[in-house]
Amino acid sequence: MESQHALVLMTLLLATVFAHNLLEANSQLFAISSVATLGPSLICSRIPGLSTKQIAICEEYPKVINCIREGYRKGAEECKFQFRKNRWNCTVLGQTSDFDDKAIPGTKEAAYTQAIISAGVTYTITKACSMGNLTDCNCDRKQWGQKSPEGWMWGGCSVDISYGIKLSEDFVNAAQNTHSAISLMNKHNNKAGRQVVKERLVLECKCHGVSGSCTTRTCWRALPSMRQIGETLKEYYRIAFKVKAIERKSSNGPKARKLVLQSNTSRKPDEDSLVYLNDSETYCERDVSSGIPGTRDRICNKTSTGEDSCHFLCCERGYDTHNFTQALKESLQIQCRCHGASASCATRTCWQSLPSFKKVGLQLKDRYEKSVLVRTVKYPSRDGKRAAYLTLESTDDKPPSKDLVHIDSSPNYCDRDSLKRIPGTMERECNKTSKGIDGCELMCCGRDTTLMKS
Ligand SMILES: *[C@@H]1O[C@H](CO)[C@@H](O)[C@H](O)[C@H]1NC(C)=O
Ligand SMILES: *[C@@H]1O[C@H](CO)[C@@H](O)[C@H](O)[C@H]1NC(C)=O
Ligand SMILES: *[C@@H]1O[C@H](CO)[C@@H](O)[C@H](O)[C@H]1NC(C)=O
Ligand SMILES: *[C@@H]1O[C@H](CO)[C@@H](O)[C@H](O)[C@H]1NC(C)=O
Ligand SMILES: *[C@@H]1O[C@H](CO)[C@@H](O)[C@H](O)[C@H]1NC(C)=O
Ligand SMILES: *[C@@H]1O[C@H](CO)[C@@H](O)[C@H](O)[C@H]1NC(C)=O
Ligand SMILES: *[C@@H]1O[C@H](CO)[C@@H](O)[C@H](O)[C@H]1NC(C)=O
Repeated sequence: MESQHALVLMTLLLATVFAHNLLEANSQLFAISSVATLGPSLICSRIPGLSTKQIAICEEYPKVINCIREGYRKGAEECKFQFRKNRWNCTVLGQTSDFDDKAIPGTKEAAYTQAIISAGVTYTITKACSMGNLTDCNCDRKQWGQKSPEGWMWGGCSVDISYGIKLSEDFVNAAQNTHSAISLMNKHNNKAGRQVVKERLVLECKCHGVSGSCTTRTCWRALPSMRQIGETLKEYYRIAFKVKAIERKSSNGPKARKLVLQSNTSRKPDEDSLVYLNDSETYCERDVSSGIPGTRDRICNKTSTGEDSCHFLCCERGYDTHNFTQALKESLQIQCRCHGASASCATRTCWQSLPSFKKVGLQLKDRYEKSVLVRTVKYPSRDGKRAAYLTLESTDDKPPSKDLVHIDSSPNYCDRDSLKRIPGTMERECNKTSKGIDGCELMCCGRDTTLMKS
């Protein structure tokens, strides 16, 4: 009886969790479950972040839109990985919508985001084709059964990349509505991204014959990993070419523009190179309007000499590499999320997450207030050198490892003393009504406060 009861409860629980997950999936991947029931035009016009042209493509290929979305996601994820140690670390992608492909227009970073997104879309569609997930494309079996000069046979599922390339070109370029220099640049970099997927295709083979003797081999063309694509594009990013847009000679019709190298205006940039129009800024300081978070609070590597070195990442502003591990560990917080029908919280999932850095600071401030006075005990060690350890001033116990300790009492910090690097409290603001440490009495150390600005 009881176990039956439990089973019913369990089923109910599963049902509510499942319903909740469906709801969640539905809001994110709205198109997937609803294309069949709602019309494509209704679905497509509701997806945030699409241009008019992109909505039209979505309506034409409603079954592919989730695949395209996945391509944007893959591209953004790879971008974040490739730039995780750089000052500009790609966090902008995906912030405004799933179809966000923009960094600061005209820069090398914009070149990378466009290329990696285009590559991501080409990649995901091609993969879906080869898995038989889409109706309009499949594997490329044109060479099936043919023998290669090396002696192996074409077989398996060679990827057919042409459909992915076409759809990626149509869709990603459809965000570029103008004939501006920026649009020309973005379209060039989109092409470079698609091109890299094609250039990096790999050959995969399988052996046939008794117990792995490999008397015959069949091979097929397969996609590289997104990591390989991301790395290749990062190389291209490092050697990106500066270009400018010039008017193309044309006998009739509207004047067209094209991109040429800044260094030699009689040369067009190579098809698979990344190009940019404007030099990047330092990305050191926060600038919300341009989507630059700045590098404050980023973790840097003291011993590195590269882009993640403290010197470079902190823009020579100085840096603090105190070991706050202990304090951080203790302030890890447990976050939970409720599942179940309309917030009934029938089940909860929890995880540990980092606290805000402010919270760590507050905890350390608290420890500062309680900082304990210690003294050093010196003793001769075995090898004859002198050694020392700390004990509490009052007892001979070791200080608790989580406490902050000090060996001297503090000065009052009232008067300026440049030798001790004490600025003094002259001209500090104080609170007339407070009796605490920010009150005028304490802050001004009993000095005359009548001259104070009010
Ligand atoms: C193909 O479809 C299967 C089953 O629906 C799914 O698990 C897989 O992720 C899809 N692959 C791609 C690349 O869309
Ligand atoms: C510019 O490129 C053209 C065409 O490739 C080449 O003939 C010419 O020598 C180049 N000029 C300079 C200054 O490099
Ligand atoms: C970017 O470069 C173009 C020409 O290459 C120039 O006209 C434009 O002013 C530049 N924009 C910025 C923000 O520097
Ligand atoms: C990227 O930089 C921002 C701002 O400095 C930071 O908040 C974020 O954690 C960084 N992302 C990664 C993956 O390091
Ligand atoms: C820091 O840089 C050094 C030298 O490049 C490297 O050996 C080390 O693995 C880096 N540490 C981390 C945590 O990335
Ligand atoms: C920081 O402190 C923790 C715990 O006290 C220790 O395990 C860790 O090795 C320290 N890290 C560094 C870089 O000193
Ligand atoms: C000044 O101190 C009083 C009393 O502690 C407090 O209520 C008030 O908010 C403080 N004013 C400021 C500007 O901090």
